[in-house]
Amino acid sequence: MTLIVTGGAGFIGSNFIFYMRKAHPEDRIVCLDKLTYAGNLSTLAPVMDDPNFRFVKLDICDRAGVFALFEEEKPDVVVNFAAESHVDRSIEDPGIFLQTNILGTATMMDACRTFGNVRYHQVSTDEVYGDLPLDRPDLFFTEETPIHTSSPYSSSKAGADLLVQAYHRTYDLPITISRCSNNYGPYHFPEKLIPLMIANCLNNKPLPVYGEGLNVRDWLYVEDHCKAIDLIVRKGRIGEVYNVGGHNEMRNIDIVKLIIKELGKDESLITYVTDRKGHDLRYAIDPTKIHNELGWLPETKFQDGIKKTIQWYLDNKAWWEEIISGEYQNYYEKMYGNR
Ligand code: NAD
Ligand code: DAU
Repeated sequence: MTLIVTGGAGFIGSNFIFYMRKAHPEDRIVCLDKLTYAGNLSTLAPVMDDPNFRFVKLDICDRAGVFALFEEEKPDVVVNFAAESHVDRSIEDPGIFLQTNILGTATMMDACRTFGNVRYHQVSTDEVYGDLPLDRPDLFFTEETPIHTSSPYSSSKAGADLLVQAYHRTYDLPITISRCSNNYGPYHFPEKLIPLMIANCLNNKPLPVYGEGLNVRDWLYVEDHCKAIDLIVRKGRIGEVYNVGGHNEMRNIDIVKLIIKELGKDESLITYVTDRKGHDLRYAIDPTKIHNELGWLPETKFQDGIKKTIQWYLDNKAWWEEIISGEYQNYYEKMYGNR
């Protein structure tokens, strides 16, 4: 079959493409990506010469371009990863988040219903559920937890999810939605907590921890997320939402200290900075549904996954050093300069 994978030059999308080339080499993958600051064509170098792979530079909001691509490729499945994905950037400038995350999703689904009711999968996030209190470890996000967002990013993702469900009910579009917790692994853009701390540690730069570092995230190795999406696309029930998470809750400060230890640096690098506005306290996924229905379970333990990830950043310095030497420096100064 032919899959259109949007956002495949970013973190999770590229890992998904690598996973799919190995797991289903007979499938054709067409990667559609605008190559924003977060998209990196060099990431896709290992698959560029694969005859079953094609890269197309395109904005998911470009209706004419998207429709022409559907006409040409006649896809069987669309997996939509393309998004503006960083909470801090959404707080600075929400507009592009509404554009890409909501209108872009609608454009992709309009193409799906125009060209034969194409199977559509939306890659969403646990952030649509808002947050959980720190003192109630018994609470988890289930698929029934009400949508209750905090940031412009999570609100734009929630808006997209509602549209996806509306296209199913109104047009009978065959959709599924996955809502995953925080991913980590190779090719993670160094504006996010784990790769930022690794890069700063290696450069002996201060490690900016928001607030007191007590916020909790539920970390999942990226390949486990990719496997979950593959399963949902092939075996998931149409119209359903699946939560994806690894029961691996950690406080930010503990992650930072672990990275410092693994890299043999000193905790004096830690710098507590002004908290993120509207900062979500805790995310924690209940993955019972995807486990019971599709047999999915996370395979990589955090202690192994974080070691593999740190080693990847040590072995692939050229990839992230090129990123942090460019426009990223202006971003960093703006976000952290007076914090
Ligand atoms: P990312 O920022 O690393 O990559 C996003 C990709 O989308 C980039 O390649 C970028 O060029 C592309 N893109 C952005 N706007 C586009 C547009 N208008 N048209 C076409 N391409 C565009 O993001 P990520 O961390 O890989 O996240 C991928 C998806 O997974 C997002 O939808 C995000 O909401 C979701 N998600 C992420 C996480 C996480 O921990 N990173 C967890 C759960 C869900
Ligand atoms: O839960 C899924 C979400 O996880 C995805 O939908 C988002 O696309 C993804 O970016 C991620 O969002 P977070 O806001 O949780 O990730 P981030 O890496 O930005 O931050 C993780 C935690 O670390 C958060 O509590 C804020 C904190 N933090 C982050 C940065 C960048 C710091 O303390 N210092 C930092 O410099």
